[in-house]
Formats: sequence, structure tokens, C-alpha cells
Amino acid sequence: MSLPPGPGAPPAIQTARWLFRPIDFLDTCRRRHGDQFSVEFLGFQTPMVIISDPESIRALYTGRENGLPPGRSFALEPVMGPRSVLLLEGEDHLSRRKAMLPPFHGERMRAYETVIGEVAAAEIERWPRGEAFAIHPRMQALTLEVILRAVFGVTDLRRRESLRGLLGRLLDKFASPLLQVKLLAARRFGRSGPLDQLRREAATVDELIYAEIADRRADPALAERDDILSLLVATRFADGEPLGDAELRDQLVTLLLAGHETTATALAWTFDLLLRNPEPQGRLRDELAEGGDEYLRATISEALRLRPVVPLAGRRLGSPLRIGEYELPPGTDVTPAFWLTHTRPDLYPQPLEFRPERFLAEPPETYAWVPFGGGVRRCLGAAFAEFEMRIVLREVLSRRRLVGARSAPERIARRNITFSPRQGTPVMVMPAPAS
Ligand code: HEM
Repeated sequence: MSLPPGPGAPPAIQTARWLFRPIDFLDTCRRRHGDQFSVEFLGFQTPMVIISDPESIRALYTGRENGLPPGRSFALEPVMGPRSVLLLEGEDHLSRRKAMLPPFHGERMRAYETVIGEVAAAEIERWPRGEAFAIHPRMQALTLEVILRAVFGVTDLRRRESLRGLLGRLLDKFASPLLQVKLLAARRFGRSGPLDQLRREAATVDELIYAEIADRRADPALAERDDILSLLVATRFADGEPLGDAELRDQLVTLLLAGHETTATALAWTFDLLLRNPEPQGRLRDELAEGGDEYLRATISEALRLRPVVPLAGRRLGSPLRIGEYELPPGTDVTPAFWLTHTRPDLYPQPLEFRPERFLAEPPETYAWVPFGGGVRRCLGAAFAEFEMRIVLREVLSRRRLVGARSAPERIARRNITFSPRQGTPVMVMPAPAS
């Protein structure tokens, strides 16, 4: 089998470096081996080929015969459920994706502007002045609330309160590094204990989700509602069949898990980068004061370039794939490492600098900017995430003056499947001037 060479260290060492020093690991591999290299991680039976140039990513993501790597279902299925759009393949996947796309269309997002603005304003009011606090957990609370209201559409305050508590606990458990280690070990040794634990956690919220679905089905004003659950209740598959209760449950939990932590982390990174770069921050504040949003959009693109929240999104090859001088055989697991693509000097001069201007002139070619993946599995919630980020950034920057509370730059740490700010991005709200 001809795979590109890689670090060659024992899998335990490679896994530890990937878990604890991911950027250093990727950068060292790139320096030693170039655009593509093979890594070996514990719990994976075969090496995985990492790629980073846009043409190879395009070939991987547009090859319809390429499937998901088997590891994806292992940890996600017990929580997301067997019908999750993130886990299904082939026709089953495409039919769900088609049914779920309309509510996520860019134009539809305007319906959520008020809700997101209200949630952000209420969150900002709770922030202390003149006292350091980590902004990442605040963004997690905010994006969870947005999902409860805009996606689940929960209006009953008591149910919203119960769901907030239970979902918060489920999300914390799901992101725990200890659980990740237990899952890797379970996969390696064929144990089901940690998976049963995940299933039990997920079951605690199902009752409330099913109650919400039943209320929605019975709601005579369903057609006037614009939350995503209501739109999905009204949706039909191509054969005219509606989505059943268990299907709706799985897709709702999928949207929660795929959309909550990712958007919160992307926001935390954007604040971290803005607070360390006064010039872009000043330019953004000026633009917001004038009511524009061009530089705001560029700022978000640049933050997602430099800090891609989801580091990898791989496929298992269904047919041979040529990558550089290598002909990878079917069955090989291949994944782009988005951080490597986004920091290529041939695509982005001075790649480590935060310069939103680079996105003003013209958009990058499709597979050179891939924070949301690509092809038929490109993020369903990309327009929603970017819209939410624009509103939250606008609300925060126009209501408060934030400063970074640490001088050392944030390191990238892995949290569950994301690249997360290690310290949670400590910030401080400047005290209000005496009146
Ligand atoms: C900045 C925030 C986000 C980032 C960086 C992100 C990133 C990604 C990536 C890289 C994928 C592709 C996975 C693959 O190729 O296999 C993906 C898929 C997906 N994302 Fe997101 N996401 C974000 C926000 C959201 C939001 C807000 C939602 C929904 C509310 C969402 C729902 C989904 C779904 C359902 C999929 C599966 C699509 C499919 O398999 O057809 N994401 N996301």
C-alpha cells in the first residue's frame, strides 16, 4: 500500500501530540513531509492521510462514492440517534439534507434577527464591569439559548428552563476530555460502558423534546411559526411523507450538537483575535457605528480562517484518489486539516496575521476557505452560524468596550471535536465612564 510518509512515532505518541499540542503537531508534520502525510491515532485501525491543498480537498469532497469514516458514528450515534443527517450516507443522507435545507437558506435567517438580538442583549447585561471573566462559556450560554428559541422554538418558559438545564448538562458531558479518552479506549477494546453512559444522558432530554414535538403538531398556528422545528414538522420528503417523531428528535439533537459549541467557539475566537488586534477592531467599530457590515463579514471570515473551529472532517475513499504523487486505494481514510489549508502562504500571504482586509477584495476560491467543509456534506447551518455571529458581534461591540484580560495569546486546545481557546478567552468590560 502506498501512503505518504508521516511522523512514524508510535500511535500513542502521535495521539497525545494531536490531543494536547495539535497546532505544533500539524505544523511539524507539514515542515517535514509537505502537503500530505499519514498519521496513526489510537483507536483507529489504519493510518489516516492528512491533506491540505485545495485541489485535493475538492477531489475528496466532490467524489460522491467517498463515505464517512467509521469512527464518526461511534461516539455521535448514541446521542444524535441513527437517523441523524450528520451520520447517514448515500440516498438516506441526501433525502434528509434536502428536507432540512430550506429552513437554513440564507434569506430565511432574517426571521431570527430579533430573537438573536434579544438573547445577546440579555446576556451582555449580565456581564460584570471591571472584573475579568471568560467569554467562551458566556458565548456557550448565548448560543444554547438561541438554539432553544430559534431552532427548537420553545416558548413555554418552564419547559425552556428545564431543557436549558438538561441540555447544558448533556453538552458538558459530551465535551468532557475524560469521556473522549474513555471513548477511544472503548473503541480500542470493544467496550460499551461509556456509550451506555452517553445514551442515558441523551434519554434524559428526550421526554421534553417529544413533548415539544407533540405540541407543535397540535398547534393550529403552525403555519405562522418560523422556528426550525415548526418548519421541519411541515416539511415533506420527496415522496410526500412527513418526518416522524423519532426522525425529528434525531435531527433536533443533531442541530444542537453541531451548532451550539461550534458557533460559541467561533465567537470566542473572534473576540480573542479582535482584542489583540486594535487596528481591525477600530475599523470594525467605525463601520458598525455607520451601519455597514462589509468589514464585519470579512472579520468573521478571517477569524474562521485563522481559527477553524472544526479541525478535521474526513471521508473513507470509495474509489482510488490521486493526491500529489500518491494513488490512495479505496478504503483509505483521508481528511483535510483545515488549519493547514488556511495557513498556506501561497493562498494567504503572512498567513498567521489577522487581516480581515484580505477578504474584502474578492472571496477565496471555494476549497481554499473550508471552515464549513464542502461538497454534499457542507455545513447545513453555515448561513445561520455566520448570521448569528454578525448579530452577536454587533450587539457586543456597540454596547460594551471589552479588553483582553491576559497578555499572553490564547493557545489552541482541543475540546471534544473542536479547536477551542485554552483559557476560554478571559476579557474585561471597561467600567462605564462616570456621568
Ligand atoms: C461556526 C460554526 C460552525 C462550524 C465551524 C461548523 C462546521 C461544520 C463542518 C466542518 C461540517 C462538515 C462535516 C463533514 O464534512 O462531514 C458541518 C456539518 C454540519 N453542520 Fe455545521 N458548523 C457550524 C455551525 C452549525 C450550525 C449553527 C448548525 C445548525 C444549527 C450546524 C449544523 C450542521 C449539520 C446538520 C451538518 C451536517 C451536514 C451534512 O452532513 O449534510 N452547524 N459543520
